[in-house]
Amino acid sequence: MAHLHKQQNLCYVTLFVALTIIYASKAVEVNFHQNYKVVWGNHHVFFLQNGREVQLSIDKTSGAGFGSKLNYASGFFQMRIKIPNKDSRGVVTAFYLTSTAYEHIGAKHDEIDFEFLGNNGKPYTLQTNVFANDEGGREQRHSLWFDPSIDFHIYGVLWNQHQIVFYVDGIPIRVFKNNSKVGVSFPSQQMRVTASIWNGEPWASNGKRIDWKQAPFTAHFQGFNIHGCQTLNRNKHVCYSPHLWWNDHKHWQLNPQQQKAYEDVRKKHLLYDYCSDRGELHKECQIN
Ligand SMILES: *[C@@H]1O[C@H](CO)[C@@H](O)[C@H](O)[C@H]1NC(C)=O
Repeated sequence: MAHLHKQQNLCYVTLFVALTIIYASKAVEVNFHQNYKVVWGNHHVFFLQNGREVQLSIDKTSGAGFGSKLNYASGFFQMRIKIPNKDSRGVVTAFYLTSTAYEHIGAKHDEIDFEFLGNNGKPYTLQTNVFANDEGGREQRHSLWFDPSIDFHIYGVLWNQHQIVFYVDGIPIRVFKNNSKVGVSFPSQQMRVTASIWNGEPWASNGKRIDWKQAPFTAHFQGFNIHGCQTLNRNKHVCYSPHLWWNDHKHWQLNPQQQKAYEDVRKKHLLYDYCSDRGELHKECQIN
């Protein structure tokens, strides 16, 4: 009998732990409006799952975009995204960080981008780019090893003082190091987390036109929690604190497993790298 009791108790404990884990992970799912607001194309934004999923759509009249209410100066920014499941050539679905400083008073632009360049047939192409101090032109393009229009996948950016790492489903696909010591600019300004769907023709479609007969094109977004350091009106140096987990020294560079995964992705999925094309214009290309 005692034995049975023990087993029963164990069973309850297990159930309790399991439920706690489920609740904990549910609690992480915040409503869109907690951290984000619609920035443009109001009529092309739809809320699903009680605000835990957002659909952006584009037709001939407009695309749409949303952005975080606050600005951040370091963090690990993630979103779950499902891109349009049609022949969406020319339609760009984007998830990016962009600086919000006042460019009209001379502030320079910083930006960290994920951009899906529609699908002109497979493989799907994911472009990444980094702008620092107004200087961009750092495109890389990868083919994806899955169909991003069927399921949600996680796209993430780690940004600390040492590196920017782009992740797809937890796999590092790109690393941009802070090489400011040798004169390469590194994003340093407070940024807003943003996502949008927009008309990228002709550059995103190799000159082809969007097939509007298929409109609307819709992209879906989930995961509105933000793990970032808000700048508010504080000095951004508070965002370099080692107490923020993404600043911990284990995130200053890839660990050996991540490095291996990264090299694997480069070998199998890298379609284009600005360093192989215009490397002489970018000092970081001579370092790596
Ligand atoms: C880049 O690295 C330098 C040290 O080499 C550091 O002083 C600076 O804060 C870093 N920049 C950013 C934006 O984190």
